[in-house]
Amino acid sequence: MRRPRFIADQARHANGPLGRLIAFIMARETAAPNRRAIDELEVSATDAVLDIGCGPGAALSELAARALKGRVAGIDPSPLMVRLAERRNRALIDEGRTTVARADVSALPFPDGTFDKALCVHVIYFWDDLGPCFREIARVLKPGGRIALLFRSSDDPRSVRSFPTSVYRFRTQHEVEAALAAAGFTVKSPQPVEPQLPTLLIATRAG
Ligand SMILES: C[S@@+](CC[C@H](N)C(=O)[O-])C[C@H]1O[C@@H](n2cnc3c(N)ncnc32)[C@H](O)[C@@H]1O
Repeated sequence: MRRPRFIADQARHANGPLGRLIAFIMARETAAPNRRAIDELEVSATDAVLDIGCGPGAALSELAARALKGRVAGIDPSPLMVRLAERRNRALIDEGRTTVARADVSALPFPDGTFDKALCVHVIYFWDDLGPCFREIARVLKPGGRIALLFRSSDDPRSVRSFPTSVYRFRTQHEVEAALAAAGFTVKSPQPVEPQLPTLLIATRAG
């Protein structure tokens, strides 16, 4: 069954009491895909890692547990998500190991070459044009930096069946790979189009 539009709108920009409920459900629903993407990212102890569209911030603690001597940042344009992510990661923030900022992928509040790794899970549906977003991510990654990008593609007919396309924009895996390549990434391990799982791409910024 297709999710109603008012639920999809909350996934794109959560706010109010319904947004809190959606954030709670989201943290549970996306735990497994985040773990899968983080495993493939091969985070090392000293890495600086950015979670783009971090939502309620459940992946931030998982990333910080791997980047033990590094640092982790999350960004999200929803003020509610930023508050929830801060609350969930209060101890790490107080230790100075994690930050959360309100920001959009199109204008990341970090200097060039800040991060070794980036994570982006179930977010690209909400970007009108992938090119400028991938170029902005490339800017904040160090040369040789890596991104794990997980999304449902339009190659899987269930995507379009399950989510309203007035809110979610689905692309083919090939379209996303081409946009990454045009932004200067090498898609290191393109995954075959799989019927069961969302697509996971690992891409490396040119050195
Ligand atoms: C489906 S949720 C996924 C959240 C988180 N990545 C996870 O796996 O639980 C999508 C998130 O993307 C955020 N988002 C929407 N548009 C965005 C944009 N232009 N830039 C960055 N994040 C965005 C939303 O606020 C929301 O928190």
